[in-house]
Amino acid sequence: MTYEEYYGNQLACLKSVEQTLLDIIHEYPTQSYPNGVEPILYCKSRIKKPESMMRKLERRGSLTDGRAALEKMHDAVGVRIVCSFLDDVYKIADWLGTRSEFEIAETKDYIAYPKPNGYRSLHLVLSFSSHSDSKLMAEIQLRTIAIDFWAALEHQMKYKKDIEHEKTIRSELKRCADEIASVDVSMQTLRDLILNDQWN
Ligand code: GTP
Ligand code: MG
Repeated sequence: MTYEEYYGNQLACLKSVEQTLLDIIHEYPTQSYPNGVEPILYCKSRIKKPESMMRKLERRGSLTDGRAALEKMHDAVGVRIVCSFLDDVYKIADWLGTRSEFEIAETKDYIAYPKPNGYRSLHLVLSFSSHSDSKLMAEIQLRTIAIDFWAALEHQMKYKKDIEHEKTIRSELKRCADEIASVDVSMQTLRDLILNDQWN
């Protein structure tokens, strides 16, 4: 099924929300950062594929059409912001909270409260009220590049069935996630020390 067939005339609104978000993120002020420590390394966005949206709705026991998708799910539009440092994840989230284009309907801090598998990211659920009659939602995920690298590999486990040594792999992934978290904290501390030094 194509995006057009699934989301119908709401597809244009979804695309517009996606572009608006990318434009807003592009406005994040970066002048105060020295070269090499830019707060945002990269940004990715996507409109959720009809198949994966339908699977998700089905898992929740809901109708699976495009209208249900927009009513029940908040991640038809998704943007991921990848940073070098933890501080920037929170600074950017705070800054997003000051924008008037949307409201932050929900914040899920899986960095402070990691998932049992070790997953860490800061998720914001946004609500855009100005678009058409109904509210459009979007999800922003903020994470460090080290976590992003981990999450990309861990995500592959979702699509594999009957993995050999699954238990060992999961526990090794968890161990890596915890090590990454500790390295992220050290890198933040080191950056603070180096930059303070530079400016004194
Ligand atoms: P879904 O997980 O998408 O069904 O939605 P949810 O409402 O449970 O929200 P949640 O905050 O758990 O996850 C939203 C999104 O975050 C997912 O679609 C993934 O992109 C990402 N995510 C959440 N948990 C994990 C995880 O354990 N591993 C990885 N790699 N990504 C995750
Ligand atoms: Mg989930």
